[in-house]
Amino acid sequence: MDMQRIGVSCLSGVSTVILCLVSVICVNAQCERPILEPGFVLTEDGYKKDKFPSGSSLSVKCGEGYSKIRGNSTIVCDDGNWTSPTLKCKKKSCGSPGEVINGYFNSSGGTEFGATVYAHCNQGFEIVGTAYRQCYAFGWTHRVPTCEILKCGDPPEIDNGRIISSPSKEFPEYGDVIEYACEKNYFLFGKAQIVCNENGTYGSIPTCGEINCPPPQVENGIRTGGGPPPYKYKSFVSYGCKLGYTLEGSDQLVCEGDGWSHEFPKCRKDEVIPPRRTSTASPNTSTGATTSSPPVSGGDTHKNIGIACGIAIAVLSLICCVCVYCKNKKG
Ligand SMILES: *[C@@H]1O[C@H](CO)[C@@H](O)[C@H](O)[C@H]1NC(C)=O
Ligand SMILES: *[C@@H]1O[C@H](CO)[C@@H](O)[C@H](O)[C@H]1NC(C)=O
Ligand SMILES: *[C@@H]1O[C@H](CO)[C@@H](O)[C@H](O)[C@H]1NC(C)=O
Ligand SMILES: *[C@@H]1O[C@H](CO)[C@@H](O)[C@H](O)[C@H]1NC(C)=O
Ligand SMILES: *[C@@H]1O[C@H](CO)[C@@H](O)[C@H](O)[C@H]1NC(C)=O
Repeated sequence: MDMQRIGVSCLSGVSTVILCLVSVICVNAQCERPILEPGFVLTEDGYKKDKFPSGSSLSVKCGEGYSKIRGNSTIVCDDGNWTSPTLKCKKKSCGSPGEVINGYFNSSGGTEFGATVYAHCNQGFEIVGTAYRQCYAFGWTHRVPTCEILKCGDPPEIDNGRIISSPSKEFPEYGDVIEYACEKNYFLFGKAQIVCNENGTYGSIPTCGEINCPPPQVENGIRTGGGPPPYKYKSFVSYGCKLGYTLEGSDQLVCEGDGWSHEFPKCRKDEVIPPRRTSTASPNTSTGATTSSPPVSGGDTHKNIGIACGIAIAVLSLICCVCVYCKNKKG
């Protein structure tokens, strides 16, 4: 009886150990639910259990946005590890994102599932719509944006000036030119033309300012034309010199934006003819004697007139004397 009981309990003990060992081995040989690489998903069967006994198989497929190239989708639990599928998947392509008029899509990041393409406009154009499209499994998100030409606001009015030419549109567009001019007597500072630029602005606007040129200083000069100061933009004045002075430089001056158009003229005292040199020491003398006639010729003429005058007076005196003598003799 005792022996039998011992035998039974021993047997049950051993079997428990064996069961235990078997179950441990079996648990170890099970596979967990596989973690798949991107692009693969499990079919429904894979979600029915958390653990899979060794030898069981599952089927995988290409995930959303991926398409099958080739291969077998079956994976097998091989003693705790899943075999890798021979299935090969690739990202689906969304194809061309479309044509942006007056712009383009930068597709350098590809046009496959997961990609984002960004639209850019040509210079002077701006995006209207969403500036990107994303490639999803169903295709591109959003619509193709458009690029519209940039518009600038109304060109500003300026004091003492006006717009003399502008495009006949409600708002000037990129590249349009607006031209300003100043009222009379005002000088235009800056550039007369402004352009609607790629930022939708005009850059710097010209201004119309008064110009005051300082009264010209011409020593020994006389104003011969134009009025007295103040001298505004485009005022005109002309100069001559006092007697005995000769004008050098420009006799006419115009008041410009950056001052007078010319340097002030100078009145130089006329040169007095130097007396003829009598020295013979100069090596120039010999040639000077023969070539100096033109400048001295004036003096010679004067001298000749003097001599002629003297002779005439002498002759007249002689005649007079003769007359007086004759009269006295008669009387
Ligand atoms: C995939 O492989 C398994 C075993 O490796 C096989 O039983 C099954 O028929 C194969 N399926 C296809 C579609 O080739
Ligand atoms: C299962 O995979 C793990 C990690 O990759 C590895 O260490 C282990 O040896 C594999 N087991 C079998 C039975 O192949
Ligand atoms: C496109 O985008 C890439 C990266 O964002 C940039 O390096 C490249 O210059 C862009 N190309 C054009 C034409 O805009
Ligand atoms: C447009 O704006 C950018 C950045 O503000 C500036 O660097 C550029 O000079 C501007 N272009 C013009 C033509 O003003
Ligand atoms: C005469 O003198 C002038 C100025 O002194 C000089 O320039 C010129 O060369 C001289 N001529 C001769 C022939 O010596």
